[in-house]
Amino acid sequence: MTEAKTDKLILRALRGEVLPVPPVWMMRQAGRYLPEYRATRAEAGDFLSLCYNPELATEVTLQPIRRYGFDAAILFADILLICQALGADLWFETGEGPRLSTVTTGAELAALKPASAIHDRLAPVYETVRRLSRDLPRETTLIGFAGAPWTVATYMIAGRGTKDQGPAHALKAADRATFQGLIDLITEATIDYLSEQVKAGAEVVKLFDSWAGSLKGDDFTDFAVKPAARIITELKSRHPGLPIIAFPREAGEGYIGFARATGADCVALDNSVTPEWGAAHVQVDGCVQGNLAPGHMVTGGEALVRETRHVVEAFRNGPHIFNLGHGITPDADPENVRLMIDTIRGA
Ligand code: CP3
Repeated sequence: MTEAKTDKLILRALRGEVLPVPPVWMMRQAGRYLPEYRATRAEAGDFLSLCYNPELATEVTLQPIRRYGFDAAILFADILLICQALGADLWFETGEGPRLSTVTTGAELAALKPASAIHDRLAPVYETVRRLSRDLPRETTLIGFAGAPWTVATYMIAGRGTKDQGPAHALKAADRATFQGLIDLITEATIDYLSEQVKAGAEVVKLFDSWAGSLKGDDFTDFAVKPAARIITELKSRHPGLPIIAFPREAGEGYIGFARATGADCVALDNSVTPEWGAAHVQVDGCVQGNLAPGHMVTGGEALVRETRHVVEAFRNGPHIFNLGHGITPDADPENVRLMIDTIRGA
């Protein structure tokens, strides 16, 4: 690794360094709250065409970097692209979200492609990563990502987003072999997918387990901790020193020890836990990321300034990457993002 790369603030925080000002980026930082994103998306036609267009996906990834100077850029793609690469149908219903062909039987699982077959479909994503690693400012860290197996499986089983992940829990109870087979297939595909992103230039990878909060007891161990541990162990053996962020969203007590149990270098916290709790129970094991409530990007004002300072203060004695507790929403005001960054950096 060159000097310039290891000097990047995000990489330093991920190595456990306590910095005077935490580096910052934002989940969904390239998104509909930005007029320039809406314009490029209109040019692409629809969301999936944007994801598979390296030129335009590179452009939208760079937009929030140009506007705000975030310390990291996250590849513009989606956690559900891998489902399509495994042979599922995927489309987005305007105003409603993702729709997929479902996997609820052993026969449907067997009809999916093997993990090794995903790369043709995902080649444009790797090309986007290559372009970004060439075009980003030298101080900006490039983050690749994938969905964690449980979260991806909840969409593949239900064919859409669900409030309580009911269909996935039902398959887990009714046909454990098919459910486990799907988790294992996604796990192996995710290793290969992230590994290709790293070869293309991603410097950090993040695993999004957005629905980890609905896994309780042994299920949390079996389907949030174990797949993450397998993915992280294998990625680190293929790419020694690769920093990895895990986000078992709404894990609650499950956040405690998650970094040790999985090998993650950083645990991202949602805003259902207080920063004080996160500092006491999670930051004791290493770097944490988070966890300002995304609603402040809509409401702004004094409360935004106060809560931003609160998050910075609570995590100031350990390694910390500032972020929201979940993605910024389309109704956010871009000026509030500026106010958050100025508050963090003390401008
Ligand atoms: O963070 C970033 O800026 C990078 C790109 C990114 C997107 N999705 C772009 C996107 C990332 C990292 C994701 C992750 C993702 N996608 C997750 C995990 C994180 C989380 O939010 O919990 C999940 C669950 C998905 C699946 C997904 N994609 C849903 C449920 C939806 C529809 C809901 C919504 O917000 O519209 C999407 C669409 C999506 N992915 C958009 C973006 C910018 C909006 C699409 C549009 O432009 O219309």
